[in-house]
Amino acid sequence: MDKSFEDYVRCVEAYLEGPLRQLIQSLGPPELQESVLYSLLAGGKRIRPVLALVAAGYAPAENFDPFALNAAEQRAFAHASALECIHCYSLIHDDLPSMDNDDLRRGQPSNHKQFNEWAAVLAGDALNTLAFQLTSTNCDVAGLENTAILSRCALRMVAGQFLDLSAERGSFLQEREAFFQPHADSEKMQLLESIHLEKTAAMIEASLAMGAVLQGHEDYSAYAAFGRGLGLLFQMVDDFLDETQDSSTLGKTAGKDKKTGKLTIVSLLGVEGAKDEIQKRHLALKDEVQRLPVKDGVRNPQPMLLNLLDYFAVRTS
Ligand code: IPE
Ligand code: IPE
Ligand code: MG
Ligand code: MG
Ligand code: MG
Repeated sequence: MDKSFEDYVRCVEAYLEGPLRQLIQSLGPPELQESVLYSLLAGGKRIRPVLALVAAGYAPAENFDPFALNAAEQRAFAHASALECIHCYSLIHDDLPSMDNDDLRRGQPSNHKQFNEWAAVLAGDALNTLAFQLTSTNCDVAGLENTAILSRCALRMVAGQFLDLSAERGSFLQEREAFFQPHADSEKMQLLESIHLEKTAAMIEASLAMGAVLQGHEDYSAYAAFGRGLGLLFQMVDDFLDETQDSSTLGKTAGKDKKTGKLTIVSLLGVEGAKDEIQKRHLALKDEVQRLPVKDGVRNPQPMLLNLLDYFAVRTS
């Protein structure tokens, strides 16, 4: 991880450990707080909040104090954390026995293993709701816009998870069976891309789009489009690492996609083919970054977005 990425992560972690922990501790029974905080504060790469802060033009402060933020910073960190709340809820639910049935997440027992299934379902529900409290408190124009973006993209993530499991296990709508069992490779690729676009790229699109709104853009379409491409790349690398890395490096169960016969970029193109596809998309996205509009007087996010893009393409965990 590049040093400048670490600086952003440090600020995000401090905000989650500080003001957000306090907010969670004021909600609900201690058992619910425990279950929520267990998953939220368990590390993770924090790429979604970091992307939002970078796109917003935020520069990490040397002596960052999450309790001494000005109004614009408070809003940026609340919105950035909302993205992490939705993401974290999606991971808790993704690991449930009825979904991917995964026992390991972020290097520790997944939420339902540590507590139990209903606690995990409810911790996910709480994080989902909390996210919208964060974007809508002291709601101004950017708050309203970002609440709308987040709700649209979070719904797309749910739709993507639905498609993902329907492709793995079959649809319960008979007339949709053929849709999930394509024969031609080109159709399989199309199906795969539509799943990735929703389950993963939607939330990365939200991160860039919400950051652009915080930067002051009314038209955030270029950022959203870049986020979609970045999200597709991100899930391809996730599939690639599932096949090529071990569980201790990933902090989650490796080799699972092959075991469950999942449609992934590796199952379609093989390890080498997947690598080539990732490289091709990586290069195309570099050009896209350079075309992103930047508001006058705002720190240019392009250099850091290029750093992050490089990191996403070659990451090993
Ligand atoms: C994992 O996301 C799930 C996907 C959408 C691929 P991350 O790889 O960002 O997981 P954490 O947040 O670092 O744990
Ligand atoms: C999950 O995709 C995407 C989400 C919306 C959580 P995966 O099922 O591939 O994520 P991992 O590999 O378990 O993190
Ligand atoms: Mg899954
Ligand atoms: Mg999974
Ligand atoms: Mg995966």
